[in-house]
Formats: sequence, C-alpha cells, structure tokens
Amino acid sequence: MCSGISTTVLVFFSVILRSLLTVAIEVDPIVIKWSQFFFKSNGSEFFIRGINYQYFGVNGASSTEYIDPLSDKTICERDTPYLQRLSINVVRITYLDPTRDHTLCLNLLAAAGIYVITDLSGPTDRLSLEPRWDTNMLARYTSVVDALAGFTNVLAVSVGDLYFHSTYNDYIPFIKAAVRDIKKHIQDKKYRSIPVGYVTNTTFRSLSIDEMEYMTCDTPRVDFMGLRMTYSYYTNCTSDDDINHVATVFRDSTIPVFLDSWGCRVDPSNDNRTFEQIDTIYSNNVSRVLAGGIVEGYFQRTDPESNFGLVNAHYDTVDVTNGFRIFSSRIANASPVSTNINDYVPVNTASQDCSSKTSPSGVESTVLPPIPNKKLCSCMMGRSSMRCVAKEDGFDKMNATDQYYALKEICENKQDSCIGIYNIGSLGEYGAFRQVQSQGKMAFWSAKGR
Ligand SMILES: *[C@@H]1O[C@H](CO)[C@@H](O)[C@H](O)[C@H]1NC(C)=O
Ligand SMILES: *[C@@H]1O[C@H](CO)[C@@H](O)[C@H](O)[C@H]1NC(C)=O
Ligand SMILES: *[C@@H]1O[C@H](CO)[C@@H](O)[C@H](O)[C@H]1NC(C)=O
Ligand SMILES: *[C@@H]1O[C@H](CO)[C@@H](O)[C@H](O)[C@H]1NC(C)=O
Ligand SMILES: *[C@@H]1O[C@H](CO)[C@@H](O)[C@H](O)[C@H]1NC(C)=O
Ligand SMILES: *[C@@H]1O[C@H](CO)[C@@H](O)[C@H](O)[C@H]1NC(C)=O
Repeated sequence: MCSGISTTVLVFFSVILRSLLTVAIEVDPIVIKWSQFFFKSNGSEFFIRGINYQYFGVNGASSTEYIDPLSDKTICERDTPYLQRLSINVVRITYLDPTRDHTLCLNLLAAAGIYVITDLSGPTDRLSLEPRWDTNMLARYTSVVDALAGFTNVLAVSVGDLYFHSTYNDYIPFIKAAVRDIKKHIQDKKYRSIPVGYVTNTTFRSLSIDEMEYMTCDTPRVDFMGLRMTYSYYTNCTSDDDINHVATVFRDSTIPVFLDSWGCRVDPSNDNRTFEQIDTIYSNNVSRVLAGGIVEGYFQRTDPESNFGLVNAHYDTVDVTNGFRIFSSRIANASPVSTNINDYVPVNTASQDCSSKTSPSGVESTVLPPIPNKKLCSCMMGRSSMRCVAKEDGFDKMNATDQYYALKEICENKQDSCIGIYNIGSLGEYGAFRQVQSQGKMAFWSAKGR
C-alpha cells in the first residue's frame, strides 16, 4: 500500500519533470490595446516590472561570445528563485541562441509568473551596429522567433536598439523594414501575434514624439517602443526628472512605451541605492503614460562603468547586493492604478496616416528597404570573378561591421561607382542590390572596376 502510493507520487513527479522539459507551460498571454498592455483572459492591466537579464562576461556587450541565459539549466535553476524574490514580472534578454532548447528555462519562468522580452539580434547581426537589413539578419531574426513562438510567456520581441550611434535617421527605415518582415514571418507561420517593437536612444533628452509617429504611421507599424535611459551612464542614476520628461513627451502615445535600462550605477563598497525612481515610474500620472520599466540589471559586472547589477553570480550560487533587497521591497509595494481593458479609453485616436505626420528630422522619405532576397544574393556571389576580387582585398575575412564601414568609406569617396549598392536610408535611396550582404556588394563594386 505504502509503496503503491510512493510509486504513484514518483510517477506523478517524473511526469511533471518530463513535461517541464518538453512541453511549454501555458500562461495568460499579454495583449496590447493602444498604449497599454493587458492580461488576455481577464483584461487586467499589465505593468512591466522588468530587469535586464544577460551576463556579458568580462568582454562586455560588444563581445561576439555570449551566454544564452534561457538555455542553461544551471543558470536558470540558480536564478529563477532570485528573480521571483525580486518581484519582477519581465526579464529582458539581449542574445538568445536559437539553436538551443529553451523549454526548461521558459517553463521555470512561466511557473514564476515571469514573461520574456528579447532582442532578435545576434552579436554580429544587429541593427544597432550599422544600417543594414540583409539575408543574414533576416535569417537570424526569424530563427529566434521560431525558437520562441511556442511559449506564451514571450511577451514581445525587439528588432533593434538604437543606442550606439549619433545619427539614427539612416537607421529608422531599416528598423521599420525589419518590423515589416518579422511581422510577415509571424503571420506566414501562423504564430500567436507576438508584439514586435524596438528600443530607442533617449540620450540628452533630444526626444520627440516624431520618431514614434513615423514608426506607427501606416503599415508596417511597430507595436511598442522601449526608451533606453542612457542618461544614467552620464549621471550615475536615472533621475525622476528624466522619467517625468519622457512621460510628458509620450503623453499622447499610441503604442505601449516603457523605460529600458533605467538604474543606478553603484560603488560596490558603498551600495546606497534607494531605487526611489520606482515610486515615480509606477505613480498614477506616469503609469497612465508609461507601461512600466526595465531596470539595469540582474548581473553585477566587473567593469566599474557598468556597475548597475543586483547580484554577483557564481557557478551555481548568487550573492545578493544591498540594492537587491531595497529594489525588491520597493517594487513589491508599487501599486499603479490599473484600468481594465474594457474600461480603457485611448487618449489620442488621431489619424495614423504617414502623410499627416512630421517625419523625424533628417528622414526625408517614407520608402523602406526591400525584403532581403536570398536568390539575388547567391546570384551575385555565384560569379566566381566577383568572389575572387573580394577575397584579394581581404574583405571576406572582415566581420560584417568592418565590411560595412569599408564599403561606406569607398562609396563615400566614389559615389558614382556605388550607385545600386549603397544605402542612404534618410533619403529613401536603396540601390538595386541593397539587401545583399556587404560581401556581395563589395564583390559587385569591385567587379565594376574602380
Ligand atoms: C488577471 O489574471 C492575471 C494572470 O492571469 C492575474 O495575475 C491577475 O491578478 C488577474 N486580475 C484580476 C483582477 O483578477
Ligand atoms: C569586428 O572586427 C573588429 C576588428 O577588426 C573589431 O574591433 C570589432 O569589435 C568587430 N565587431 C564585431 C561586432 O565583432
Ligand atoms: C545616444 O545618442 C547620442 C546622440 O543622440 C550619442 O551621443 C550617444 O553616444 C548615444 N548613446 C550611446 C550609449 O551610444
Ligand atoms: C559617478 O560615479 C563615479 C564613481 O563612483 C564618480 O567618479 C563620478 O564622479 C560620478 N558621476 C557623477 C555625475 O556623479
Ligand atoms: C506627475 O506628478 C508630479 C507631482 O505632481 C509632477 O511633478 C510630475 O511632473 C508629473 N509627471 C507627469 C508626467 O505628468
Ligand atoms: C551614495 O554615495 C555616494 C558616494 O559614494 C554619494 O555621492 C551619493 O550621493 C550617495 N547616494 C545617495 C542616494 O545617498
């Protein structure tokens, strides 16, 4: 009798364990109505209480090596209880490895009520590095979508992060083109309609609603925007003024807008962070505009410039900082006023037609880069003479970023020979071979003769 029960119990647990590993746990998906997120089942408003969750190691975010935190059993079993203790409901991921299995980690997060927002980019296929939308990038981005589409706790995906460069006008059409192609992929594959958006740089408050209007007018339309709070890199801490400022700028937002990477840099020997910004982010008037925020970040880094973290991680344990305790109790007490989806009345329902909108300054055209085309690319690369020239220049050994800049330098000096291959996003000029990877473009240019 007794052994009968324990066998039943054992079988029961092994079934649970097996399903944790193989079957995605269903959670209540998050849906968008105008500028806010809501739980699909009961219409309660969903505010993002998020944290950046990616360990970059000693080489920082620019390293091409990365650890996918959602496919490593040791890491996600180690961290999920701490994420839960933090009272957060969203982890934001920068790089996922689409070739790995994410079932166990996404299920552990789902069971803890935690959703995921992830970038689709990889370290070398990343829209923030150069204005480029080509076959490699499309393949990388769609493979991450394919890896995650079956999980209902994937809240949203982001196609780009505009924070590494000063003139982003050339980038914006590429972001919009990426949104168009990822949305089409989601539709073609008949996946749940996962929101597709991007994160923008808000540094120095040169922020206006024009960019959002450009991104949301006509189709393709981005579904959400993250506002990267980079001021904290200059002032050590995101200030209440900065938060109120963005909330004022986006008062009439037509899509959800949230703070991305707000936080406070800390001297580890004197962790006096108060995280009182939480009271501002989730206050009544700010939370009416913003859909919450994502704090920087879970992992404390060794680089003093990036000392924003809340835990020090070891192989299978973590040590929490003083900031961890302060953050978790403050965010657990945040109680923004929540509106049910049925009672929610959008504030601004003005026309979403591009012709009635002011383009962000510098963007003079609404023409977008075309869909990357594999056939055109292999046709160009298939001509051995072209491949040889590209090889001679050492071009094929360069990474995509260097290829882009090499091409840009040549084309800026000899514009005539680059017609057809060089992209000028702000003018809506995309050459015939614009969607081909840089190496193909270089070969094409070389073959035309210098
Ligand atoms: C709505 O559902 C979510 C999860 O599905 C839950 O966390 C929330 O408390 C519910 N809201 C209400 C008002 O019951
Ligand atoms: C590309 O290579 C250069 C060195 O030639 C390096 O400085 C840069 O970080 C690399 N970029 C990426 C994204 O790997
Ligand atoms: C954000 O953009 C500004 C210019 O608008 C630029 O100076 C700054 O370097 C960018 N921030 C980062 C972190 O790259
Ligand atoms: C930020 O912190 C660093 C190190 O703690 C300090 O050297 C710097 O002066 C601080 N910057 C500001 C603007 O407070
Ligand atoms: C919210 O209210 C506070 C206090 O009245 C004010 O200081 C702040 O500027 C307001 N923020 C916005 C975005 O309206
Ligand atoms: C934390 O300590 C630093 C000195 O290390 C000081 O400059 C800063 O103002 C303190 N912050 C708070 C919120 O007390």
